[in-house]
Amino acid sequence: MKKLTTLFLLVLFSTQLFAQRAETLAPTPPMGWNSWNKFGCNVSEKLIEEMADAMLNSGMADAGYQYIVIDDCWQVSRDSAGNIIPDPERFPSGMKALADYIHSKGLKFGIYSCAGSMTCQKRPGSRGYQFQDARQYAAWGVDYLKYDWCYNEGQNAKAAYQTMSDALKASGRPIVFSMCEWGSNKPWEWGKGIGNLWRTTGDIFDSFKGAINWGGKGVLDIIDLNADLWPYAGPGHWNDPDMLEVGNGGMTGTEYKTHFSMWCMMAAPLMAGNDLRTMDDETQKILTNEEVIQVDQDALGEQGFRFMDYGDQEIWVKFLENDELAVCFFNRADEPWKVNYDWGKMGISHQDHHVTFHNTKYDLRDLWQHKDIGNTGKNLTAGIPAHGVLMLRLTPEKK
Ligand code: GAL
Repeated sequence: MKKLTTLFLLVLFSTQLFAQRAETLAPTPPMGWNSWNKFGCNVSEKLIEEMADAMLNSGMADAGYQYIVIDDCWQVSRDSAGNIIPDPERFPSGMKALADYIHSKGLKFGIYSCAGSMTCQKRPGSRGYQFQDARQYAAWGVDYLKYDWCYNEGQNAKAAYQTMSDALKASGRPIVFSMCEWGSNKPWEWGKGIGNLWRTTGDIFDSFKGAINWGGKGVLDIIDLNADLWPYAGPGHWNDPDMLEVGNGGMTGTEYKTHFSMWCMMAAPLMAGNDLRTMDDETQKILTNEEVIQVDQDALGEQGFRFMDYGDQEIWVKFLENDELAVCFFNRADEPWKVNYDWGKMGISHQDHHVTFHNTKYDLRDLWQHKDIGNTGKNLTAGIPAHGVLMLRLTPEKK
């Protein structure tokens, strides 16, 4: 009996330890940069080092971006002992030196592999080499692993991701685990405790709406797939609606603001996917809008939800720490939205949160104009452009 109790306590302790570890690894949604959206297979140590420099020079690091992640195509083969080999022409100094460079800037280093036999670009995958690869990543100084799902050869997704999760834990280095199986096996239902974030959709495409033939999805398509998954997100385990396209040229400035705002409303990981070395002022201002980022990074860790759905117009709410909330008026339509909103009529009941605007007045702050715009005591009147948002932070007035 005593033995059983000890065993039980041990199991309980290690489960709690893991839960704590997951939360300390990604207590708020990870922020960083990833090579894929802009550069595809065209990665090299020169590019990655320049991006680390740009992360600091552009104000991105100060705004909270931390991880520099090399996506597919850094790896070319395995040696006779099964060790993974980085492309010697593109990464002549090797991965350890690159990791050291990134760490010397105060940033963190991420890498990519795949649960299948090959990556999506037909480079060697980690199937059969999970523990060996994880040990190698730890030795290089890797802090983040994105793990894909191509050529998975019919494996069970949960088991495959569990294996790499175990391998990362056994490596002894804290490594954020980003599960990229495109939402095909509902990872939100089983991913907590295995990974720190999981993709909920197919690949993002640099457009506002409309999926394209290879399955790429626009911002609206992705929002609709990710919206109802809010119950599954929280500190250490996030829904990932894919990386950002802000600054890549396929959308207008207004649409990029909407893309960024909605990712923050959904507590999404913020992985920039543009060229940080050459971004224009507008892109830089969007990606480093700290008031909007604070909504994403709020310590409560709740994913916002669609509170009102008027068809092409929606109101989203995200509860924040200290009884504050973010409210985002989101105009999907091709015409402007003239808002005349009576807060007095609004009441929100969501999980443990119950808000009415009869008794408590809230101060309103416009997070894109960086301006206080009154309070909920009177109607909100605003014009929101086609495909635009009005994103507000609401703070209860002190009585
Ligand atoms: C896809 C993944 C993309 C990118 C690409 C690389 O499966 O969703 O984000 O990593 O593979 O080949």
